[in-house]
Amino acid sequence: MSAEPSAVAVELNYFIPPADGSKAFNNTTSDPVTGVPATNTKREWRPVEIENLRGHENDVSLDNSGFQFFHHPSKHTSFDGAEKVKAEYYPESIELIKQLTGASRVVIFDHTIRRRRPGETEDTPDKRQPAQSVHVDQTTAASIARVHRHLPASDVPSLLTKRFQIINLWRPIHHAAYDFPLALCDYRSVNPAQDLIPVTLVYPDHEGETFGVKYNPAHKWKYLREMTPEEGLLIKCFDSIQDGSVAVLTPHTAFEDPTTPPDALKRESIELRALVFYD
Ligand code: OGA
Ligand code: FE
Repeated sequence: MSAEPSAVAVELNYFIPPADGSKAFNNTTSDPVTGVPATNTKREWRPVEIENLRGHENDVSLDNSGFQFFHHPSKHTSFDGAEKVKAEYYPESIELIKQLTGASRVVIFDHTIRRRRPGETEDTPDKRQPAQSVHVDQTTAASIARVHRHLPASDVPSLLTKRFQIINLWRPIHHAAYDFPLALCDYRSVNPAQDLIPVTLVYPDHEGETFGVKYNPAHKWKYLREMTPEEGLLIKCFDSIQDGSVAVLTPHTAFEDPTTPPDALKRESIELRALVFYD
């Protein structure tokens, strides 16, 4: 056995905005002619060092870096059907998020199960693979739109006057995620005005908006090697507090870890997306 590495050197897939200054967009469905989703954006691989926080898990937190790790096994462990995940895993995760954050109300609006399938390029909503692209799931506009979409209209005005966040609860399922782990970028190393580019996500029936993240050599990347299903990660995608006192968001991406043992099982994970409200 090799010793636990303190950091790994890899390349991450960063965003390049359209050269002509037009608004960036990514279609979510394939173009019937080209077979791939239409986009006016490009990407580039850039070398980075990613610090392994194994043994230092508590050095990071939602408010200082934008993400935090926890050890808390889930009661639901099969993850073999969306209805069971919603009925069993959602409620226990709502309680866990409340316990970890102190929030008063948590609404889960979405989940994604990912399985790496080497050699398969398919990446459709029900067959997601690890996502190798540095991104943030929602912009401020998209985060506010989520509140309108998922909360009763009569509750929205008062909810929007208080603190709210979007947090993803990410967890390996079935076995440790040695393979294609998730890298997180410390918010304190992000220059929001320069690094974050809004990208329209064009769905067949509506539009969303994410941030593509431009390369910045100041970025400080972290991961937790060999995360187990008993462990998990909270990734802050949005915070309504934007006065510089707390981390607002966390750029993230899957990456190929050169220290993954050759016989490691392929990554399987689930991420929940939650609206998180405070009194
Ligand atoms: C996420 C995400 C990518 C991955 O949880 O928001 O982008 O590969 N995950 O798990
Ligand atoms: Fe994401």
